[in-house]
Amino acid sequence: MNILIQALLLIAVLLLLMILFFVNKYYIKTRSLMRYYENQGINNSYYFPLVGKYKRMLDSIKEHGDCMHYYKQLLTNQPDCKYTVTNLAHNVCIYFYDLELLNQLYKCSDLVKHQFGVEIFKQVMAGLVFNEGEEHSRKRKILSQAFHYQLLQNMIPQLSQIYEEFFEKIRNKRVSDCIMMGQEIVAESIVRLFFSNSFQGLKFKGKTMTEAVSGIIERVGSMAKSASYALFGKICFSFGQMASVKKDLKQIKEIYKEIITNRINSTNLEELQHKKQKDLIDYLIESKGISKIESEESITIDQIIEEFVTFQVAGLDSSGHTLGMVLYYLCIFPEKLVEEIEQTIKTPDDLNTESIKKMKYLGAFVNEVLRYYSVADQIFPRTCNKDIQIGDLIIKKGTQVNVGIIENHYNPKYFKDPHQFNPMRWLDGSLDKLNSYAFNPFSSGKHNCIGQHFAQLEIKVGIIKFLQEFDLELDQDYKFILKFSFLTEPLNPIPITFKSKKQ
Ligand code: HEM
Repeated sequence: MNILIQALLLIAVLLLLMILFFVNKYYIKTRSLMRYYENQGINNSYYFPLVGKYKRMLDSIKEHGDCMHYYKQLLTNQPDCKYTVTNLAHNVCIYFYDLELLNQLYKCSDLVKHQFGVEIFKQVMAGLVFNEGEEHSRKRKILSQAFHYQLLQNMIPQLSQIYEEFFEKIRNKRVSDCIMMGQEIVAESIVRLFFSNSFQGLKFKGKTMTEAVSGIIERVGSMAKSASYALFGKICFSFGQMASVKKDLKQIKEIYKEIITNRINSTNLEELQHKKQKDLIDYLIESKGISKIESEESITIDQIIEEFVTFQVAGLDSSGHTLGMVLYYLCIFPEKLVEEIEQTIKTPDDLNTESIKKMKYLGAFVNEVLRYYSVADQIFPRTCNKDIQIGDLIIKKGTQVNVGIIENHYNPKYFKDPHQFNPMRWLDGSLDKLNSYAFNPFSSGKHNCIGQHFAQLEIKVGIIKFLQEFDLELDQDYKFILKFSFLTEPLNPIPITFKSKKQ
């Protein structure tokens, strides 16, 4: 009996200690650090146990059908608000909006990306996004070749072909989830940008390679929001779901490696010089940017695979969601785009970078979708690796900082009537002197989006191709609610019928 009581007492003490540990870590310490920033003048402060900022999003969905409602209203109501402070689990995070402070933040070199909320994505993409310093600059220089003007120009026929292949599947049909379709299109375009047709027909566990990688991103996204990650952090990475994700990814990379190695070994440099449609691997082979040994100018095959996976993870969701949303906006905001397309693109050969540049309304429409929808409402949080000062604010080592991208897109100081979808605002001269931090969908500074020109090109080519081919019809009873997953996305999949214009 005595032993039983002693055991129960021991368990009770252990439980109490655990509760004290969690209360201290997740409440006392977090709140006291937040108060430190409130005392320095951050008036907009919001704490909620564990989920922090996400609670605001959940409330916004319930009350307004838009997870971003609160954030879109913030600067509309307080255009001069410089920053807010909130929490994510036990982490305190400051969001910056003031353009001068953003300038200082982007230049600050004492920020790292390896902390809570971010490290989980590092498990599946160890490339550019998470490289820092010298390594980052060196790889960024080499990989920028993927987005060289010439390569992007060469991509247009490839992109057209990808769209045409999809059109055969959807002609006169109702697609029940246009974001998913957007992701499939984008996934295919990233594969062809890097590797042309090298992966065609390849399967992993019965799925195409892009489906397999998309599945991995989805699994990691749901783990990032799980209670076990919020409570136990990195410890989760060695077990269960994450262990199986890592195993799958390792096998996928092995398959990629074999194909790329064979391709490099069988490339004839002379023939390559005359090849018309080159992909990134061709450019890297030509410039000796890829080799068995890593050097100042080159990366290894393993690294290029790592980068490919990183590009897929970074590009697939963001561009795929934007493409799906573009189709939605095309349905609800009937536009003059059809007219501009008909006037500019008369034959398939007219579709090139020059004609796309000439289509001013197309550019304005895409800008307006990037502003209004803002798929990336923020960047990956950065953690201060020492005490820093931004403006008058002294920020303690360990605090997370972030950029409020979407908040500024709804600031009336920069965008008149910000809650109105109005592409014309980009053409009436009012935004000619707009500060680039105010419209920042691809972020800024050294980690800005390397794929931004490619993303805009594939979306513009997509709009042209879709509107040339189809009349788009959104289900009449469709209800748009914006939720937050890894990125912002519609709660109800977007259903559109693609009626062929060639009856
Ligand atoms: C509409 C589409 C897209 C949007 C809105 C977008 C947005 C962003 C943002 C906000 C960042 C900064 C993230 C941070 O610093 O934490 C970023 C980085 C990045 N994006 Fe994109 N992106 C898009 C499409 C793409 C595409 C298509 C690719 C690849 C083909 C891509 C590849 C990358 C990479 C590799 C980085 C990391 C760059 C670095 O750290 O140097 N993105 N993107």
